Amino acid sequence: MTPDELATLAGTLDGVEVVHNAPKWPVKGTRAEKRAERAVAIWFVLAALAGLGFIVAFIAWPHEYVAVGEPGYDWYSSYTPVVGFLFGFSVLALGIGIIAYVKKFFPDEVSVQQRHDGRSDEVDRKTIIAQLASAGKSSDIGRRKLIVRSAGAAAGIFGIGLGIAALGPLIRNPWKGGDDAALWVTGWRPEKGETVYLRRDTGILGEISRVRPEDLEAGSMETVFPYRESERGDDEALLHAQRASDAPVMVIRFRPGTKTIKRQGQENFNFGDYYAFSKVCTHLGCPTSLFEAQDNKILCPCHQSQFLATEFARPIFGPATRALPQLPITVDSEGYFVARSDFIEAVGPAFWERRP
Ligand code: FES
Repeated sequence: MTPDELATLAGTLDGVEVVHNAPKWPVKGTRAEKRAERAVAIWFVLAALAGLGFIVAFIAWPHEYVAVGEPGYDWYSSYTPVVGFLFGFSVLALGIGIIAYVKKFFPDEVSVQQRHDGRSDEVDRKTIIAQLASAGKSSDIGRRKLIVRSAGAAAGIFGIGLGIAALGPLIRNPWKGGDDAALWVTGWRPEKGETVYLRRDTGILGEISRVRPEDLEAGSMETVFPYRESERGDDEALLHAQRASDAPVMVIRFRPGTKTIKRQGQENFNFGDYYAFSKVCTHLGCPTSLFEAQDNKILCPCHQSQFLATEFARPIFGPATRALPQLPITVDSEGYFVARSDFIEAVGPAFWERRP
């Protein structure tokens, strides 16, 4: 059967009765039709231009971090809005173009179909394809070269943009910097011998509240961030230290007499009953914010991984397969908690080439 016959058969088999069918442009090639064609094509051209702009901005727009007030900050801070706008506008224009095409060129048709239960049979499913093809044909898509070309350009450029956006993060090298690469180092690493304190977040950036052992009740937990005295009064540095995704640490104070099992090589990472673990889940990086003081379990709310705090925060339930990294801590001569070093393993979800 020809595609047209199959399309007719599809309607008959589905019990569809065509009550009215009139082509939008019975006289072909009129000026009004050309105008309608241009009105549709302009949306596809805009989608293509926005898609092209998205690709260029995604690759070339300055995206490396620039602090407030430094040269280039405006360019850096507008990266996300620009990329987001161009991407969104490209999708929007493509969608409007498709809707406009259907409205302006698909025939006016009124059909009536009786409802039936259950799944469509094999013949129905085959003939629907022919029906769709026939509908496309009746809109005269074949001779509308302007629309075909502009829609092809828009869809093609948009598709390339999507591909680049998907592959872009794979091209950046997360190991750039060797041992100092961002994957290995966190804000807890002491720089130039400067002490790194454990600081709580009071909600006021410039208000520095360092944590001392007596601040925690037995059986409690507190979230802390790295802090150096050189950062005092420097809002940018304080914000950076607090917002870094690998910075949050939970300090847990066990009840006196709680038995713990320490990890080999990390026997002196705790300070008495105080243990500090990374708060970043080793499954997919959510904050493991729930501490159950009764059975000393740390819970991740995202996919319900559980870690046993008394046994070096090893996973005991859920998808996480790695213990939460432990931060070595002690107390300085003034009685404040300080980090003895950075974590000795990578924080967060597992990844290829992670060091053991
Ligand atoms: S991110 Fe924590 S369980 Fe998935």
